[in-house]
Amino acid sequence: LRVLSVASEVFPLVKTGGLADVAGALPRALERLGVAVSTLLPGYPAVLKALPHLETVHAASDMFGGPARLLRARASGLDLLVLDAPHLYARAGGLYADASGRDWPDNALRFGALARMAAEIGLGRTPLPKPEVVHAHDWQAGLAPAYLHYAGAKRPGTMITIHNLAFQGRFEAQVLAPLGLPPEAFHIEGVEYFGGVGFLKAGLRLADRITTVSPTYAAEIQRPQAGMGLDGLLRHRADRLSGILNGIDTKVWNPAHDPRLPAPFEAARLDGKMRAKQALQQRLGLDLDPQAMVVGVVSRLSWQKGLDLLLEVLPHLLAGGGQLALLGAGEAALEDAFRRAASDSPGAVGCAFGYDEGLAHLIQGGSDFILVPSRFEPCGLTQLCALRYGSPPIVTRVGGLADTVIDANFVARAAGVATGIVARDIDAQSLAEALDRAAAIFALPGEMAQLRRRAMATEVSWDGPAQAYLRLYQGIAGVS
Ligand code: ADP
Ligand code: GLC
Repeated sequence: LRVLSVASEVFPLVKTGGLADVAGALPRALERLGVAVSTLLPGYPAVLKALPHLETVHAASDMFGGPARLLRARASGLDLLVLDAPHLYARAGGLYADASGRDWPDNALRFGALARMAAEIGLGRTPLPKPEVVHAHDWQAGLAPAYLHYAGAKRPGTMITIHNLAFQGRFEAQVLAPLGLPPEAFHIEGVEYFGGVGFLKAGLRLADRITTVSPTYAAEIQRPQAGMGLDGLLRHRADRLSGILNGIDTKVWNPAHDPRLPAPFEAARLDGKMRAKQALQQRLGLDLDPQAMVVGVVSRLSWQKGLDLLLEVLPHLLAGGGQLALLGAGEAALEDAFRRAASDSPGAVGCAFGYDEGLAHLIQGGSDFILVPSRFEPCGLTQLCALRYGSPPIVTRVGGLADTVIDANFVARAAGVATGIVARDIDAQSLAEALDRAAAIFALPGEMAQLRRRAMATEVSWDGPAQAYLRLYQGIAGVS
């Protein structure tokens, strides 16, 4: 089976969030199952710089206003196809927005081009072998199923995966012609979305299969409360929609072999975890107290992640002797608030801002618990890392968080199956209660050891999820 995966970010080349982790790890898990996966991504400057040995496989004289080349390289265990189109990608700033945070005004063309090239490959209009399935990730690749649908030719099967329904890629109707979509595509059964063109909507309407990254999120997004305007369409296509949990790359995230930790550890030998805790306390200026309960956070700072609730309950956590170790990047107001909290409570609140892969590992390794109090969470990867690193997650009961953590309630503790703490509701009161329950377990070393052990025994690899994707691919390969 040959699959073309299309994504706007791919770890370790470019990453702003979990999408990159998935786009980087799933193809390798599929290759272990014998699937030939190529991964198409934009040729941002960082990508071209990281891949000095690119080979040109195809050229297009005009890709929405400038020339483009399709380049190929094998790197990081991936068959990479890079869309090099300088007029679209060769610029300083972010992947989606300029340095001041304003979306690039030509995003419709930047990501339309990515989808367009995916369709060209899918239709066999490049020298590359034709894939049997084109798998688009999120809105940035959402037009790929549309181009293939309207090509009027024999086409591969198409799948779109929703990583986050909050980002929909909606543009003015005027982009239709420059994108090279036929006028009939501007229809409720096509790419039209609230009077404009919806990239995610187009994919959800026209792909043969829709997946999202957890079973609970798949159910949530069919209801108005979490459907973000698309629940009607998703209900309509419910028989084509399924939730497949993400895994994590268990080579990158392996406490027994993690160069970012001061010493390795595993479930049967946890002294390395104490050393990680000490190193973390040192690194973030926390009091070097092995008895203090360290609650770690590694997160984008945005409304989705619910960290404003953490700010509300922080005094409560600190009053109980807890410490906070936070690494975050995102909204300035949240950054400022955590910076203030750190200067108000030196030794008890340690924060770092920006993107820091190494510190993310140290927080996972050195914390006693990892907190993820999201308002919504399609899957969430940090709680999976936390399980593997023996830092039981404290989470809200939404999306993939609900599907991956077994709450340490009375019956689960008695049965010895608990892996973390699930808050009752999404509010400060429930979060405070969840932190209290964590503290109560932390105070009982035997209970804490059992919780940790069960957490570390949780299956978080890509093996099972990759098989689930393979079964869906087989169902759509060469549908028309
Ligand atoms: P989302 O994609 O919504 O941000 P996920 O939990 O799916 O949430 O994925 C987040 C990924 O980004 C994880 O791999 C996490 O370790 C990483 N991450 C988040 N914030 C940072 C940061 N400030 N520095 C380094 N890694 C981060
Ligand atoms: C999105 C979601 C996150 C998910 C990730 C990878 O960024 O916010 O929950 O884990 O995509 O699928």
